[in-house]
Amino acid sequence: MNNHLVYIVFGVSGSGKTTIGRLIANQLGCDFFDADDFHPQVNIDKMAAGIPLNDKDRKDWLERLAELLGQIEKGQSVVLACSALKEKYRQALIKHSQIAIQWIFLEGNYSTILNRLSQRTRHFFKPELLHSQFNDLEVPEYAIRINVSKSKNKIMEDVMNQIGLEKNKVGLIGLGVMGKNLALNLATKSTSLSVYNRELKGLEENIAKDFCNENKELSINGFDNLESFVYSLSLPRKIFILVKADVLDQVIDQLIPLLQENDIVVDLGNSQYQLTRTREQKLNDIGLRFLGCGISGGEEGALNGPSIMAGGKKEAYNAVSEYLKKIASKDKSNYPCCAYLGSGGAGHFVKMVHNGIEYAEMQLIAEMYQVLRKLYNLDPIGISKIFAQWNQSELNSYLLGITEKILKVKEGKDLLLDKILDKAKQKGTGGWTVQAALELGVPISSISEAVMARSTSSMKNMRVKLESIYRFNSQKSDSEFEEDELAKAYKAARILNHIIGFEMLRQANSQFRWEIDLSEVARIWTKGCIIRSNLMEEFVSTFKNLNSENHLLQLDQVSENIRTSISSLLKFTGHGISYGISLPVFSATANYFNAMVESQSPANLIQAQRDFFGAHTYSRVDRPEEEIYHTNWTI
Ligand code: 6PG
Repeated sequence: MNNHLVYIVFGVSGSGKTTIGRLIANQLGCDFFDADDFHPQVNIDKMAAGIPLNDKDRKDWLERLAELLGQIEKGQSVVLACSALKEKYRQALIKHSQIAIQWIFLEGNYSTILNRLSQRTRHFFKPELLHSQFNDLEVPEYAIRINVSKSKNKIMEDVMNQIGLEKNKVGLIGLGVMGKNLALNLATKSTSLSVYNRELKGLEENIAKDFCNENKELSINGFDNLESFVYSLSLPRKIFILVKADVLDQVIDQLIPLLQENDIVVDLGNSQYQLTRTREQKLNDIGLRFLGCGISGGEEGALNGPSIMAGGKKEAYNAVSEYLKKIASKDKSNYPCCAYLGSGGAGHFVKMVHNGIEYAEMQLIAEMYQVLRKLYNLDPIGISKIFAQWNQSELNSYLLGITEKILKVKEGKDLLLDKILDKAKQKGTGGWTVQAALELGVPISSISEAVMARSTSSMKNMRVKLESIYRFNSQKSDSEFEEDELAKAYKAARILNHIIGFEMLRQANSQFRWEIDLSEVARIWTKGCIIRSNLMEEFVSTFKNLNSENHLLQLDQVSENIRTSISSLLKFTGHGISYGISLPVFSATANYFNAMVESQSPANLIQAQRDFFGAHTYSRVDRPEEEIYHTNWTI
């Protein structure tokens, strides 16, 4: 987008030279000078007293400006706002200049300009002088003429078009680690890009400009001025936002007045799906388009290819899908791991469920590690070896792979892991999944237990105290360690955890009237995202052509796999718990399975209890379910 020129924005006082000049300089990322700042005090006093400047007054002033322009070297750009009304002034201005000059004349009729001038309060120029300015004005043929009787937005559109600056295709707001990596990902896929980061004194300074300087070889323009950032984008604008959740609405509100009909705002953060719905509605109502896209893959994924889950209007997705697909990871057939999942927050809903599964997958590995270390006395290096073997098998997953590495990392002679405080933090997505499941009435016990396990972990001080009161048994197992059995238990727990997550999506489909294709979700989760695994690859075919009425546990491939591993899970869980190991997610998957395959549950007793103390009524097995009954239970 960079042309290297001196741009002189000229016209009578009040035509908007300073404002427009500054905006152009922002677009170009170059210095801006205002000729008014170069007037000697005598000139300022004269103008303030309502006395027009004559040629003699302007001579020294023009000379100072000419010297300034003479110092601009080739390869540099600079913008100067200067009245430059007469041809001889213009010639005087550029007499030392070595590089091409682009003259931009801001044109407006007398009454428009007078009207503007009378609204300016803090300026030394007196509106009465306007007449003399119009008298002096000689408009050259070589200048670009920009009519200023329009909005600033339109004026800048005209300027950018006329000076032939090519606009950038995509804009990205928010240069945190993820934002920077996504920007690099976009720019290396030959997308011309504008990036914006706010300026916060002492906290976030020069982020965008520094980022561009560090990546000069890429086509990126950096802005700390939101307006200039917006003007630098081609229509309809495509603006990706990656900012912290607490400032997202503020950023959107700042953007709205700068945007034009059909521009597209894409939230790439981890947002709550209900808020995405509200934002989509709000922007659609004013003629703008909005997409809520979940992205997964952490920092590395953002740079090399994340998995992308898009939600919003299909035509909005179509307008940006080219760029999303470019940056997404590629599946084993080289198709982008990016999919349109539906309207109304569907993308962020799917990302939220991804994170729920992620929480439980992490916790399962942590629980297995705990069993191996505490119950079977293995050291982390030994555990790492087991995980490495498993990772060569059907149990392969990204999370198991990173764990295998983590377990070997040392700090001096000690394992780094042993120096990490055992309090797991959370940013909320796991909890949102639990809330959403409660609203939908879907059991997701592996995920809720994983969230609760993080909460329990945070009670470190209390756990230490309570251990000294209650922990009296040895936690070493007296039975043999059977790796094969452990692997099977882990396999069954993982399948069940995934079934729980995908079931939540299936139920959301029927309750929200979405048509999320579970096979497609599995496909875009095969590469790039945090829960990518061999199992996910299997699910792509397992979930093809589903009957939406059927529970996923009814699928043949699922039941075959569970049948051969479930007894190991049940044994493992019982054994571990009996030795005092906390296995919330393993046992949640075991309990989920036991409960789901139990045709007669004890819930009839719950119903009876409810009816006993609160006359809450019950249905009978020997009558239609809609009929309700109440009994006076007191005998
Ligand atoms: C991903 C991750 C990512 C983030 C988690 C961490 O898919 O790339 O899920 O979104 O790292 O949300 O969440 P917690 O901080 O809550 O563990």
